[in-house]
Amino acid sequence: MTTKKLWGGRFKGTTNEFVESFTASVHFDSRLAEVDARCSQAHAKTLLTADILSQTEYEEIVDGLDKIIEDIQSGDFLWDQSLEDVHMNIEARLIEMIGEPGQKLHTARSRNDQVSSAFKLFLLESGDELRDALLTLQEGLLDKADAHTHTIMPGFTHLQNAQPITFGHHLMAWFEMFDRDLARLADWHGRTNSSPMGSAALAGTSYPIDRRVFQTAMGFHSITRNSLDTVSDRDYAIEFVAVLSTLMMHLSRCCEEVILWMSPAFGFISLPDELCTGSSIMPQKKNPDVAELIRGKSGRVIGHLNGLLMLMKGQPLAYNRDNQEDKEAVFDALDTTLQCVNAMALLVSGISPNPSRMLELASQGHPTATDMADWLVRHGIAFRSAHEICGKAVSLANQRNVELHELELAELKDLCDSFEDSVFDCLTLEGSVAARNHPGGTAPEVVAEAINAARARLVAQSHSEEA
Ligand code: ARG
Repeated sequence: MTTKKLWGGRFKGTTNEFVESFTASVHFDSRLAEVDARCSQAHAKTLLTADILSQTEYEEIVDGLDKIIEDIQSGDFLWDQSLEDVHMNIEARLIEMIGEPGQKLHTARSRNDQVSSAFKLFLLESGDELRDALLTLQEGLLDKADAHTHTIMPGFTHLQNAQPITFGHHLMAWFEMFDRDLARLADWHGRTNSSPMGSAALAGTSYPIDRRVFQTAMGFHSITRNSLDTVSDRDYAIEFVAVLSTLMMHLSRCCEEVILWMSPAFGFISLPDELCTGSSIMPQKKNPDVAELIRGKSGRVIGHLNGLLMLMKGQPLAYNRDNQEDKEAVFDALDTTLQCVNAMALLVSGISPNPSRMLELASQGHPTATDMADWLVRHGIAFRSAHEICGKAVSLANQRNVELHELELAELKDLCDSFEDSVFDCLTLEGSVAARNHPGGTAPEVVAEAINAARARLVAQSHSEEA
């Protein structure tokens, strides 16, 4: 049986059954129920302040909504698809419970400013949850990096051995990506934190309400500046998913490395059994499926970003029902990303490097050729010539099937008279890493400083959140 529509006055016919289910959103937007009910309490306060509600009516509404919130929390609230969405379900239930005062609640508002308010608040809270998960991941990275400031591994460009780095330095590179994600999240948070209520359907409201009452009650930092823009705008959803997409892209790159590193061809790391899965046919297999799934799910989140942009690009101002399509994409992007951040934290804590294998591969392919060129520069040769000379040294070493440091001094002197015995000191992996001891470099003591500084920033950040 179809419940009477709250908007039914001008209609003679009843809604087609298919249309009713096609237009309904309550099966997904009921996720906004609690925040929507709290918004309605704050809106009632606006109406009280504007003398649209009496004190008694106001209290009946607030108490009724408290009861509704309890029912939502306990799962006792009965959702009715014929009431379309979360907003109409809650309003209809309130009217059923308290009668006349409930009928006044929708004064000076529309579902258009209502949905945006609830959605923004939901996302702001979810953003905080995501930030906390990211901070936990970052702490895990710091702990792991701290244990490996001296562990040498090959650094790659083009996936070819480039120069030696430390494993701690590599993990701190991951840390930096997530630091930028946190900064983007904070930036988005600031821009999203303005209150839509009072914009009503599109043009504002003819009632003498004070928009600051709702803003303050719900903890928004400001009120939006243009009613038409306010009900049309879904930038906050798009930007949120853009932040998530960038974060997922980072997670995906980290996971790609985990997968490579765990492959026996690299053999850089192992993961504990409890974080891996097996093959249904090949008894020997131990696969990094968690990392692969994170990599796979990044495509899903990035797809949602594209979907949201497509959703909005053709819409004239102001509100159009298309907007209702935003929620499933955002919810799924949020849930997926949160899950993946937590999964990544597990992976990071489980990573157990194999330093001897890392060192073995780091030694191959003349990774200290740049150090040899730098040595020549320090002995008066211009870098471009030094590069040429060392390129020849590499070619000679390849011919003889030895590493650079295994060439004879005489052979080097044939290439450039400036070479002396001391060049061999800078051709070791340890020497190469230690030489890069400027801020941002891979030298163990610099990485240790970077870890300490990052830890101090994390502590300061969590204190400022508590304040
Ligand atoms: N459920 C809608 C949404 O999610 C809000 C309702 C606005 N509907 C309307 N006919 N103006 O966007």
